[in-house]
Parts: sequence; C-alpha cells; structure tokens
Amino acid sequence: MKKVFVSLLFLCTLSIPVFSQPLAEPDDFLNSDFHKHRREQVRMRLPANSVTVFFANPVRNRANDVDYVYHQDPDFYYLTGYREPHSMLLIFSEEQHDANGDVYDEILFAQPRNPRAEMWTGRRLGVKGVEEKLGFSKVLVNKAFHEYDIEFAEFDKVLFYDFKNDVRNTHAEGDLYELIAWFKVKSGYPDDDSSLLAIEPKKQNLDTRTLDVIMKDLRGIKMPEEIDLIRKAVNISAIGQVEVMKAMKPGMSEREIQGIHEFVYKKYEAEYEGYPSIVGAGHNGCILHYIENNKPDIKNDELILMDLGAEYHGYTADVTRTIPVAGRFSPEQKQIYDLVFKAQEAAIQACKPGITFQELGQIARDIINSGLAELGLITDPGQNHMYYPHGLSHHIGLDVHDKGNYEALEQNMVITVEPGIYVPEGSKCDEKWWGIAVRIEDDVLITKDGFELLSDMAPRKSDEIEALMAQSSPLDDFELPDLDN
Ligand code: GLY
Ligand code: MN
Ligand code: MN
Repeated sequence: MKKVFVSLLFLCTLSIPVFSQPLAEPDDFLNSDFHKHRREQVRMRLPANSVTVFFANPVRNRANDVDYVYHQDPDFYYLTGYREPHSMLLIFSEEQHDANGDVYDEILFAQPRNPRAEMWTGRRLGVKGVEEKLGFSKVLVNKAFHEYDIEFAEFDKVLFYDFKNDVRNTHAEGDLYELIAWFKVKSGYPDDDSSLLAIEPKKQNLDTRTLDVIMKDLRGIKMPEEIDLIRKAVNISAIGQVEVMKAMKPGMSEREIQGIHEFVYKKYEAEYEGYPSIVGAGHNGCILHYIENNKPDIKNDELILMDLGAEYHGYTADVTRTIPVAGRFSPEQKQIYDLVFKAQEAAIQACKPGITFQELGQIARDIINSGLAELGLITDPGQNHMYYPHGLSHHIGLDVHDKGNYEALEQNMVITVEPGIYVPEGSKCDEKWWGIAVRIEDDVLITKDGFELLSDMAPRKSDEIEALMAQSSPLDDFELPDLDN
C-alpha cells in the first residue's frame, strides 16, 4: 500500500509540475465573448462556401538561443485572445461535419502542453485551456492539422494572407513552419517564392486579398471594450510625458528619458511599448523614426521630441510631446511650436464623422504652410518643402499604424492627429531655425458628432508645458553611484 502510494506520488510529481498553477493575471483583458463575436463578424463577411485561415506570428530569434519577446499577430489576437505561437485558426462560412458527427464552424490548432518546455519558456494553455479560457468548442493540438481531413479544393474561396517566407523551422512537430507547409500542400499553394499569380487555374479559389478588406473593416471601428483599453494605454503614455516634463534636466541622456517613460508604463502594468520609443534631442528630433536614443547629454538650448506609446493588453497609444530641455522655449522654438499647435488644434476641432482623412490633413497642412511663409522659412505657402514630410493621422489599436479605412472618419474610430515641423541643419532658411524639430501627437476618439481627445492628461500648450516643467519631480533626488570615477 505504501509502495503504491509512493509511486503514485512520484507519477504525480512528474505529470503535474508546479507551473500548472494558473497564472495570476489582471482581469481586464478582452474576454472570450469579445473574440467570439469578432469571429462571428468575420464569418458574416465571408463569401459563401469559403474558409479563412489565420496563422499565429512566428517566434523571432534575437541571437543564438535567445528569442525576441513573443508578440502575437494582431489579427490572430483579435479573433482568439490566444497569445501563444505555433497555432492556426480556421473560420468557415458554413457549418462543417466531422467523422464523429461533430458540427463546427471554427477550429483552433493550439500548442500542446509540454512540462519540459513550459519549465523553460513559460505556461501554455494547451487544448483544454484554450477550450476553457478562450471559449472555443473545437480545439486540436497543432500537429493534428497534418491528419486533419479538409479538402480546400472543395471551397469556392480559401482566404488567407500571403506568406512572407520568413518563418524559421524549429524542428518541433506542429510548429508554425510545419503548419504553413501542410497548409500549402493541402490547399495546392505553389510551394516556391512565386506569387499567387502563378497558381494554376484549378487553384484559383485561393484568395490573398479579401481578408485584408474584411479585417480593415472590422478593426478600424473600435468596440467599447477596445476603447477602454486604448484609453488606458493613452492615459499611461500621457502620464509618462507628464513625469518626464517634471523630471527633465539638462545633462540627462536620451536613453535615461526613454527609461522614465517606460518605467511609468511598467508601473501601470503595460506589457510592451507599442513601437520602439523615439526620444530625440536637438537635431535628432528631425529623424522621424529616430530610435537610437543614444545622445548622452542633452543641451540646455535644445528641444527634445518624445514619441512613445504604452501597449496595454494589446492596445497601443501613440503620443508625442516636444519640450524645451531648459524648461522654457526660446523665441524661435516657441514660434515653431505654437504654429504646430495651431495646426493640430484646428485639425482636432474638425474631427467628426464624415470628414475625410484627406480633408483633415489639408487643414493642418494649410496652416503650417502659411505659418512657415510668415516666419520666412519658405517664400510662399504654395512652395514645395520638406519641413512637414509626413501625414497627419493614422488609426491606432492593436497596431500603432492600425488597420482601418482611410476615407471618411466614422464614429468609434481612434486616430492620431500629429502635425510636425522639422528643420534639419543645412536647410535653406535662416540658421536660427536649424535643429528645431517639433511634433505634437494626440490620440482622438471619433464620437457620434465630434471627438474626444484621449491624451489630454499631457499638456500641449507651450505655456502649460513650461508651467509643468517648473514643478518638482520625485526623480530630482534620484542618484546612482558614479561608475566612471
Ligand atoms: N510613432 C509613430 C507614429 O507616430 O506614427
Ligand atoms: Mn503616429
Ligand atoms: Mn508617434
């Protein structure tokens, strides 16, 4: 009896590792009903007798045996809530029947549980976990896709995103590499680098275009639960800007400032940055996506442009503030800053359903062009120039440049409004403007008949920024040992 007990105990120890303890997670993630509802919306938009296939994001190798932190493909997350790799989702336009008599219209192939792997790389939901936590009724382990009985040729349409051929073979059974390879064989996708144009006539049911249209249509209009998460991400990011405004001192480094923003994000449990943080002092601000952030000591007479966004439960903010390192704008800095502010304010006030992205962009561009002409940076407002080389707005959401339509604004879109002026050294204007780079970027929810400015926790007006920068910061007394002397 004792012996049996001991060996049972031994078996239990082998099969129930400590990490089978559920992960203590916040309870404000999107819930399984949200994802289910989104899948239903996809199904409603599918052509008759079709199936759509989504793959999880690949795991990316950083170097040797270290991978980048895994991030799920936003469409896959939107439709499943599943945050693990090596998986695929099928959604059918009509019900399917399997050999056991089961009826289903969607199926998720998920990573299997694996105590050894989980001990190294973290918990997995496994088939049961996906059923219970994510509310799928038909879930198979990923490697079962190999034997899964499906005749893609019998569907009028097979919708998927074309492959980028950049997935590593991990040599694990059922990994993403194999899932894609099996899909290609089963669907008749030409297994070389040629495009779908090369597909023989009988494979013309393969459609790599329509899915993007469907997903833009869905993801561009945010559901209330998504707006809550975006609101949180935006507030966190705005608070980061506020804390940096208080803490800013000449002599700090760009990276140190990046660290303060990102510390605030972590303090609020934001999992990621939504994109690489941009912190550019002086001339570095003229590089639109400057991510080196490696200038060691920022100067008293410089502006610093800070474009960062916390990603909270999948949703990212995108907020930029440009502030004077010394706490006060020089006259030239203030003239450029106030011009960008004027353009931004006019565009924000114009936000409402019906106005087009193009019209909104033109409002800001006209103000900037007239202002630049008045200040003498260009000779007349119609002149071509490179001082404002980017667009005004994009959707935000699960991606920083989120999927959505770029025609007329609609209720429950969330967009940025982000004019800028950048005067790199050597520009054909008075040298007093050189090195001034200003972007002001805010996140705006389109409401039934107007807008809500989501990022208003971070001041935008030049005098409000100066007033905030005069305040003390808890970091004023933060000192670390000097390692160089
Ligand atoms: N942070 C990238 C952008 O503003 O579009
Ligand atoms: Mn942006
Ligand atoms: Mn930005």
